[in-house]
Amino acid sequence: MPTWYESKIIKDLMPILGARAVRGLETNFFLSRIYTGKSSLLRVARYLEAVIEKEERKALIITDSFTQKFVKNIEDYLKLIDMDYKVWSGVLPEVPVLTIDEGAKICEQYHPKILIAIGGGSVIDTAKMVLVKYEKPKQNLFMILPSIGAALGLRKKIKYLIAIPTTAGTGSEIATAALITDTTRDPPKKIEVVHDELLADITILDPEFVKDLPPFLTMATGLDALAHAMGSFTTNWGNPYFDATNKTTIEEIIKYLPRSYKYGGRDIEARSHMQIASTLAAFGSYGNQAPGINHALGHSFGKIFGVHHGIAVSMFLPYGIAFKAKITDKWIQLCPIFGIETENKKRESLLNELIQSIKDFIHSVDGSTCVKDIKDPKIQKEQYFGKIDKLADYALNDAVTLTTYRPINEDLYRKIFEFAWDGRIIDF
Ligand SMILES: [Fe+2]
Repeated sequence: MPTWYESKIIKDLMPILGARAVRGLETNFFLSRIYTGKSSLLRVARYLEAVIEKEERKALIITDSFTQKFVKNIEDYLKLIDMDYKVWSGVLPEVPVLTIDEGAKICEQYHPKILIAIGGGSVIDTAKMVLVKYEKPKQNLFMILPSIGAALGLRKKIKYLIAIPTTAGTGSEIATAALITDTTRDPPKKIEVVHDELLADITILDPEFVKDLPPFLTMATGLDALAHAMGSFTTNWGNPYFDATNKTTIEEIIKYLPRSYKYGGRDIEARSHMQIASTLAAFGSYGNQAPGINHALGHSFGKIFGVHHGIAVSMFLPYGIAFKAKITDKWIQLCPIFGIETENKKRESLLNELIQSIKDFIHSVDGSTCVKDIKDPKIQKEQYFGKIDKLADYALNDAVTLTTYRPINEDLYRKIFEFAWDGRIIDF
């Protein structure tokens, strides 16, 4: 089923709606209540106790088979405020539509007033979609238009959507977007659903939930956050709110991701910084603006070849920045973060230096910067080039492509994918 953003009319209108002048006048700032640190669970519990009548205190906890172990971390707090609760751990990776229907059905039987999503991006995105399906059973998820003149009218049944992320990178908790999978397409396609009513009402960033994140997920989700902040900073959709947070976020990730990856739960300071950085990265990118075409490239590639989202979108970061550099100098502001002197240097060599520094950083935490170097899964050259048309097609029809401000087409996407095979620098 096609989505609204694959329509030609929308594609024709977006360059006007996304133009700097219009965006400058229409920029919104969506943010939820964010509680950080060890006292956050108690603070939220006391808040809910105060605003929800005792007979209405019913929560559906949404998790998956891996994150259901964290339910015990919140049970005492729920009991403290007489909150009745039920656990549904049926979330599947990549949010296939069938699981959304399953979650909505449970809501219809249980009638919760609160949804508590404990997990990574897939769990939180599933909770957002369950919220929509439960409140608006007839709503076509593929045709939800962003908020301009099209309110959904949610929160009539569910009072609070609470997100407790167990990874530090996807930033779904702070995003007005959810990523789901249309399994009716062959191969299945990732679909972005964007609406400001999807934003979680309350986010809890307690380091206890990310302390034991395995090294691979620490690295992959941390690189996803880097891709959000950097991809977003180098588009023209920025404004002073998000440029400021994105710059700080990039500095934080450069400093704390290597520590977090290396020391894991033994370095709680780094864990906490990465938790905040990933939330800020989503706030400054797809929470309020756009993450850059490296996300369109990564969505397409990741889905077709089964590569982790964070590995895929960060791999395309250097290509996305180099592609956009043809028409903007914004990337130059990122040079000092990587310790690159900008004085008396030619633009081209400066850009090459920045691209190399970004690649070096990604390599330093064992990420990849070209397709042939990806270890899991190993992709053969013929296999990759055999899918290049599909890769370009899926990237072109990705919602993020609507927000690119250097015009792009299928041929250009194909060319970027070709260059990404062995890490060639984009020079077109
Ligand atoms: Fe992402």
